Amino acid sequence: MPTPAEILQERLSDALQLLGFHPIAPIQVAPTADPIHGDYQTNIAMLLAKEVRGNPRDLASRIAEKTNVGDIGDPPEVAGPGFINFRLGVEFLAREVGAIARDSKLGVQAVPQPKKLIVEFSSPNIAKPMHVGHIRSTILGDAIARVARFVGHQVITDNHLGDWGTQFGKVIYAWKHYREDGALESDPMGELVRLYREADTRAKEDPSVLEECRLELVKLQQGDPENLEIWQRCAGLSRAEFSTIYEMLGIRFDEQLGESFYHPELPGMVERLLAKGVATESQGAIVIFDTEISETPFIIRKSDGGFGYASTDIATLEYRMQKWNPDGIWYVVGAPQQLHFRQLFGAARRLGYQVDLEHIAFGSILGEDRKLMRTRSGESVPLRELLQEAIDRAGKLVDEKNPALPKEDAAEIAKIVGLGAVKYAELSQHRMTDYVFSWSKMLSFQGNTAPYLQNAYVRSRAIFRKLDQAFELPGTIVLTEPAERTLAKKTLRFAEVVPSVLDGFKPNVLANFLFELAADYHVFYEQCPVLTAEGSAKASRLLLCDLFARTIKTGLELLGIAVPERM
Ligand code: ARG
Repeated sequence: MPTPAEILQERLSDALQLLGFHPIAPIQVAPTADPIHGDYQTNIAMLLAKEVRGNPRDLASRIAEKTNVGDIGDPPEVAGPGFINFRLGVEFLAREVGAIARDSKLGVQAVPQPKKLIVEFSSPNIAKPMHVGHIRSTILGDAIARVARFVGHQVITDNHLGDWGTQFGKVIYAWKHYREDGALESDPMGELVRLYREADTRAKEDPSVLEECRLELVKLQQGDPENLEIWQRCAGLSRAEFSTIYEMLGIRFDEQLGESFYHPELPGMVERLLAKGVATESQGAIVIFDTEISETPFIIRKSDGGFGYASTDIATLEYRMQKWNPDGIWYVVGAPQQLHFRQLFGAARRLGYQVDLEHIAFGSILGEDRKLMRTRSGESVPLRELLQEAIDRAGKLVDEKNPALPKEDAAEIAKIVGLGAVKYAELSQHRMTDYVFSWSKMLSFQGNTAPYLQNAYVRSRAIFRKLDQAFELPGTIVLTEPAERTLAKKTLRFAEVVPSVLDGFKPNVLANFLFELAADYHVFYEQCPVLTAEGSAKASRLLLCDLFARTIKTGLELLGIAVPERM
């Protein structure tokens, strides 16, 4: 089922054929910024005028005249320097709304060529707390994976756990010297983090401690049984903690292999890189040089024989290509790692891999002082505590708003609202924006927030609880009021917006669309009584309410955000 923009594109393409034009530029049909100019607009006449050196307004008039939109809406109008504007007619709207109401995917079409995609996200480091920096990757990656699946791609989500980093030298050293078994029992993650920090501080003060940490790491890498066992226990404790967080957030991974999984592959991989001439030896180290990317070499094996982050990533790529043969691998990792990924992708090209590699980067989260978000003692805020705080704060809010709710329901709603608020604060921003983490803003019922959207859903659902008959799709849909038409038009755009999230990986486009949709619903709700209306007006309004509820619920689900039935 084509979207309104696609139908218009087709009609324009027919008109151009009739006129004998074959423009190189694609015909773009976009919603207008201001409804004064109609609903959709194209600049094709202006692009074509450049190609054929014609007058853009004249061309626009000729194209408009030949574009058959009799069954869609008003005759097209030429505006400004040569735009062609279209307005959807009320019968067309009624027909299209009826059609998407019958579609389980609300008009969103499957991509013509489904791809096999690995989406790697979250990837926290073991024995370090998952902090707000990882929250962006986790929330963003999950939303992108959900959208990609929804439009028909095969998606494999992979949590590339950092379980083989140099931090283990410090963790093992501290485990041996400062471990408190009681604390490890009661708060395993807290104790692991304390151990890491303890060793880190001491190593900074005392070079001999640093050296001992390094030796512990070397022993671990050489397979020392005692160190391996310590490492395994730490990894197990961390994974358990991460699982709790993912469960809370409703996030699922298909793979969680971790860096250590690839470790046995590293020596062989280095040999292959050398044999293919992709890597070379330089001052005892094995490196990949590509001065077009950077003057800094990509270090595959350090001169002391140790393998680093870069080598693990190449081995991971080799493994994934072999196991899945994907069309794309998308890495959702912060902007500071840009150079690393440019170098990795350069290496992949030189190895001859034909795969679409994307680094989906993102900015930072700032505290209300606009500096990197920290706790009062200056450390990064652990994620689990932050999520719990979100739930607690939402609980207070729900209680104020609706004190009559049964306790259990209220707790469930607090979870949905609190976690939704944190996710939405992330997803409503462009991913490269450094945004300020503000509880009062994200938990407000006013403005572009999750509670506002969730509340709009609740409002639409409440109508159906008051309805004294079963809801059925009406035979005839009437859209007489402007607020009904505005809402209908906006709802039809869902099918255009969802796939566009993957152009440039921008869930914020969907988030902001849902905000506009909710705002249109509120206007409709105030201007068009539903339950007291009669006949086909009532039936049509009920349909709009139901369609709105389904659209906002599906849209929020694509962002990984749940909706409550009451709040
Ligand atoms: N564990 C890393 C970190 O926390 C992120 C891993 C990103 N993924 C990758 N394939 N390098 O910084």
